[in-house]
Amino acid sequence: MASDAARETLEFQDVHGSLLVFGPGSVRALADALPPGSRRVFLVSDDTVMGLHGPRVRAALRGLEVVPLAFRAGEASKTRATLARIQDRMSARGVDRGCVVVALGGGVVSDLAGLAAATLLRGLVLVNVPTTLVGAVDAAIGGKNGVDTPRGKNLLGTFHWPRAVIVDFDLLATLPPDQWRAGLAEVLKHGVVSEPGLLDDVEAAARALARGRLPGPDLLRRAAMVKARVVAKDPYERGLRRILNFGHTVGHAIESATGYAVGHGAAVATGMVVESRIACRVTGLGASEASRILQIVRALGLPAEPPCGFEQALLYVRNDKKSLHGAIRMSLPRAIGEMDDAGGDHAVPVPPSVIEACWNER
Ligand code: GLY
Repeated sequence: MASDAARETLEFQDVHGSLLVFGPGSVRALADALPPGSRRVFLVSDDTVMGLHGPRVRAALRGLEVVPLAFRAGEASKTRATLARIQDRMSARGVDRGCVVVALGGGVVSDLAGLAAATLLRGLVLVNVPTTLVGAVDAAIGGKNGVDTPRGKNLLGTFHWPRAVIVDFDLLATLPPDQWRAGLAEVLKHGVVSEPGLLDDVEAAARALARGRLPGPDLLRRAAMVKARVVAKDPYERGLRRILNFGHTVGHAIESATGYAVGHGAAVATGMVVESRIACRVTGLGASEASRILQIVRALGLPAEPPCGFEQALLYVRNDKKSLHGAIRMSLPRAIGEMDDAGGDHAVPVPPSVIEACWNER
């Protein structure tokens, strides 16, 4: 249990009944976030993160039975086969509705562990402990989970809100610089969709990273709160939540088309560049605003141009979850900080010819 002194340094937010806890050392409050009387915890992680942070989490859960379940790190693991292995191992160890799933890791871990928690016995309590910037500001918050299929990314999944999300700044300190850059792409996205001031901060963070200094907790907390505010208003993505998908129609297609050789942050960065060109044609984004997004992506050292041809990616663009009745739809800005609401749908139809032209624009 966290001491009173430790708890005083933490910040707590209620997001649609899910407790968001920020602060250095907040993982020590993990046991407090479980339902009273919890006894068995399935600690799901990848093999890298389990080695790095598993002992600290287990120490925080002293007195409970902790069953560690680790899979090979990387997006290639985010499959139905890995999900089935996790589910089967939980069943073999004995699972009942008093068991809790703790997801320790980045987006791949929270997606897999979340889907296992959502499906085992029709739903176990889930607690997310993100260890990447992408996880802390995006993936761990808001209850989405999923696995990839041959037809595209995250095509099987549910909404299963975590009971708590514990964002411990200390766990992020070991992240390599490329993971910070990948996470800053999502922070940039949060700035474009609703908080323009974050763009200056991402630029400053890019300069600091180039000098070997890590972004501070304030940036991380502000970016996470953008996500928290949006998902609290639209927990099951009926409309508004789609704004968080800016850059993702193209980004997910790049990931799928390259067999996940391109990581999520890099793909979303390229996706934002291409989708901001599309927004210039479709929703009236200014050319100077699209250029600002491009400059920040470059300042982060992330790729601005797609690594594959449009024809390789088109199938995956079409399979995006926002597509409707055969139309490709994207969530696009009208200006930095203002997304087009498309009559409440927050997804604008875009003809393939426009996507192709912007994909190939240099
Ligand atoms: N990552 C976008 C969402 O959770 O809606």
